[in-house]
Amino acid sequence: MERYAHLFISFSLLFSFLNYSLFVDKSMASPFQLNHDQLNIMVNLSKSLSPYSMSEWNTTDPSPCLWERVTCSAGPSTVVTGLSLSYLGLSTGANVSDFISILCRLDTLQYLDFSLNYRTTIPDSFFSNCTGLSRLKSLNLSYNDLGGPVRNFSSFMSLETLDLFHNYLKGTVETQLSSLSKLKSLNLSSNLLMGTIPKLVIDGRKVAAFEELVLSENQFNGTIPSEIFEYENLTVLDLSTNSLSGTIPEKIGMLSNLNALDLSSNQLTGKIPATLSNISTLFRFAAYGNNLTGNIPSITKFLSSLDLSYNNLGGEIPSDLLASPNLEYVDLSHNRLGGAIPTNLSIGLLNLQLGGNLLSGIIPTSIGKLSKLDYLDSWISLRMHCMASYQRRLVIFMNW
Ligand SMILES: *[C@@H]1O[C@H](CO)[C@@H](O)[C@H](O)[C@H]1NC(C)=O
Ligand SMILES: *[C@@H]1O[C@H](CO)[C@@H](O)[C@H](O)[C@H]1NC(C)=O
Ligand SMILES: *[C@@H]1O[C@H](CO)[C@@H](O)[C@H](O)[C@H]1NC(C)=O
Ligand SMILES: *[C@@H]1O[C@H](CO)[C@@H](O)[C@H](O)[C@H]1NC(C)=O
Ligand SMILES: *[C@@H]1O[C@H](CO)[C@@H](O)[C@H](O)[C@H]1NC(C)=O
Ligand SMILES: *[C@@H]1O[C@H](CO)[C@@H](O)[C@H](O)[C@H]1NC(C)=O
Ligand SMILES: *[C@@H]1O[C@H](CO)[C@@H](O)[C@H](O)[C@H]1NC(C)=O
Ligand SMILES: *[C@@H]1O[C@H](CO)[C@@H](O)[C@H](O)[C@H]1NC(C)=O
Ligand SMILES: *[C@@H]1O[C@H](CO)[C@@H](O)[C@H](O)[C@H]1NC(C)=O
Ligand SMILES: *[C@@H]1O[C@H](CO)[C@@H](O)[C@H](O)[C@H]1NC(C)=O
Ligand SMILES: *[C@@H]1O[C@H](CO)[C@@H](O)[C@H](O)[C@H]1NC(C)=O
Ligand SMILES: *[C@@H]1O[C@H](CO)[C@@H](O)[C@H](O)[C@H]1NC(C)=O
Repeated sequence: MERYAHLFISFSLLFSFLNYSLFVDKSMASPFQLNHDQLNIMVNLSKSLSPYSMSEWNTTDPSPCLWERVTCSAGPSTVVTGLSLSYLGLSTGANVSDFISILCRLDTLQYLDFSLNYRTTIPDSFFSNCTGLSRLKSLNLSYNDLGGPVRNFSSFMSLETLDLFHNYLKGTVETQLSSLSKLKSLNLSSNLLMGTIPKLVIDGRKVAAFEELVLSENQFNGTIPSEIFEYENLTVLDLSTNSLSGTIPEKIGMLSNLNALDLSSNQLTGKIPATLSNISTLFRFAAYGNNLTGNIPSITKFLSSLDLSYNNLGGEIPSDLLASPNLEYVDLSHNRLGGAIPTNLSIGLLNLQLGGNLLSGIIPTSIGKLSKLDYLDSWISLRMHCMASYQRRLVIFMNW
């Protein structure tokens, strides 16, 4: 249900964006004249798609650059550079092989969005024989039904972005993607992939140029590979909801450009590395649902969101952990934290969850000053020794 709503929103955004960019394009359009070859390809493409819901392609308009979902380059020689063929409503078992074989001749294409065509079978010839798309930089195949193993993408050697989210992909990831040396953003999330995290360095060579690596919601196991730390440009690393074991390496602090790190819902053990506190760009760190132990280090100097719930963390909450002015969301619930709640609390806190621990002592009056707070978990689950005067205040907190 949640995902559905999310989808809907990204959709509306996508479409408003598309409309906007088309509007801009059209307003400055004058010739937009494709050469003979490109024009033929586009006309043939529209024919191959006409059985599906492509009625929005007004093919009587002589310039395909003015059709919806089509982007062309400006400049002296106009060519088609982008196609957004998301959510075409292709029906079950639709045979797109004609469409694919025409598409693969569009050798100027840099951007192809073929997401959300749920039940379409994309023929293997797309992967094995689409040499025409060697200039493609961005390929979005999310929410399709590719099934089978991750294919060999070696003919798409210019790819910088590859989105394979939610495709029922199975098996292991070996070298299928290792010729994509320009790849910056890879999303393999929400598939059925297993084995170890795909190899990131082969024969001393980094296989890609990763900035965003999203491998969540699969069955990857083994440890977090140390090769990951050679990708100094990583901004997003999401390994959540897999079966990873072992510890979180200290070297994670070397990823000095990281914005978001999600290691949640694995079987990680050991301590949370204090080196995380050195990443000044990191605003979100989540590692809930593991078996992390030890004290929580003071890692919140730069964070705005921290979720370490459902682990085995012990000791006391460091006195400065909840104080950083950037902090908005903190969930430390369901650990073995003891001692008192720190009194120095960030005024920016929107959400604070500490339930299911072994905390004791009084509730700090500073909580009353958190004017932005709109979620505070049930303090009853905290083993608080509350004084009567605080109890009245408590009720107020819980009603916020
Ligand atoms: C377009 O389709 C026609 C008729 O099927 C075919 O003769 C022609 O070669 C095709 N052109 C291109 C550029 O695909
Ligand atoms: C299709 O394009 C033609 C030529 O530009 C134009 O005259 C016609 O109004 C368009 N039809 C629609 C439904 O937009
Ligand atoms: C799809 O169409 C191609 C060519 O039109 C044909 O060769 C192939 O057998 C068709 N596949 C299916 C599954 O119908
Ligand atoms: C590969 O693509 C070429 C050109 O697009 C086409 O002529 C050929 O039939 C295709 N081969 C296979 C095995 O699909
Ligand atoms: C791919 O398409 C989906 C659905 O339209 C969208 O949510 C996602 O952000 C796109 N991926 C990239 C890398 O833009
Ligand atoms: C992928 O395809 C390329 C070129 O066809 C080939 O050299 C390479 O061995 C293939 N890799 C895998 C894993 O099949
Ligand atoms: C996959 O991950 C990339 C990189 O973070 C992101 O841009 C894209 O939106 C994600 N795709 C979907 C369908 O969520
Ligand atoms: C990081 O980005 C810089 C600048 O774009 C580039 O020179 C370097 O090769 C990148 N590193 C990796 C591991 O991709
Ligand atoms: C990872 O999973 C594979 C396949 O299920 C299994 O053979 C292998 O032993 C597992 N490795 C680890 C380290 O758990
Ligand atoms: C953070 O970086 C500084 C400078 O590189 C280093 O001296 C310090 O030990 C690091 N702190 C942690 C907790 O890694
Ligand atoms: C978590 O780790 C502790 C000790 O490190 C161990 O005793 C416990 O069984 C582990 N729990 C789970 C659910 O793996
Ligand atoms: C509370 O934390 C903030 C931010 O770390 C710090 O500037 C301030 O001095 C602390 N106040 C007290 C009373 O410790």
